[in-house]
Amino acid sequence: MNRKLKDKIQGLADKYLQPFDVGYSLNGCCQSSISPAEGEYMHDFIIKHDLQNGIEIGTGPGYSGLYLGSALKKFYTVDNCAIASSLHWDESQVIAHWRKMFDEMGLIDVPLLKTVECSGLPKFDFAFIDGDHTNDAPTKDIFSLIPLMANNHHIFMHDTEGPYVREAIINAYKNGYKIETIQFPANVGNYGLTRLWT
Ligand SMILES: C[S@@+](CC[C@H](N)C(=O)[O-])C[C@H]1O[C@@H](n2cnc3c(N)ncnc32)[C@H](O)[C@@H]1O
Repeated sequence: MNRKLKDKIQGLADKYLQPFDVGYSLNGCCQSSISPAEGEYMHDFIIKHDLQNGIEIGTGPGYSGLYLGSALKKFYTVDNCAIASSLHWDESQVIAHWRKMFDEMGLIDVPLLKTVECSGLPKFDFAFIDGDHTNDAPTKDIFSLIPLMANNHHIFMHDTEGPYVREAIINAYKNGYKIETIQFPANVGNYGLTRLWT
């Protein structure tokens, strides 16, 4: 990932993301977001493998979207706006935040979905899951995406150190997925990134 793009993302993070987390200053981004290292890794993976259509579950502050959207030809992001209540915002404020930040990144045509259960979606060769991390939600997220995925695809899961996300990965493995845990140097904000592919 080139310096100019890194700086642009960091500039947008500095401008827009402080309201989302008190841990902002710890690693230069939000504590509730992916780390810069994880973002760069997925960005570079998408470019290297020439992946085209991607979907993310868990837009959150929008930090991961900056990395993914700038690498993909077409990027969809899904969030049920559960994050709004923790910010004491209403949904329209969250949506306006995503639009503004993505527009400024040059991501002018990003569909903001509330669920993956909608019509007219293309086949995806890339997905990133970072939504609800509790109970069977991560497993449901994987299995709701599978019918939408192209033959050769990669699914990245975030926060894979957590028990329910780990359980989801085991369920995917039992369904024929291969697993790679991406290693990062110990750093605040890296809570486990795992790639699934068939
Ligand atoms: C940890 S944050 C995502 C962080 C984001 N990937 C980033 O790096 O900036 C999790 C998000 O998932 C959303 N979420 C929770 N449950 C969801 C669900 N069932 N479907 C879609 N999004 C959900 C929350 O509203 C929250 O915005």
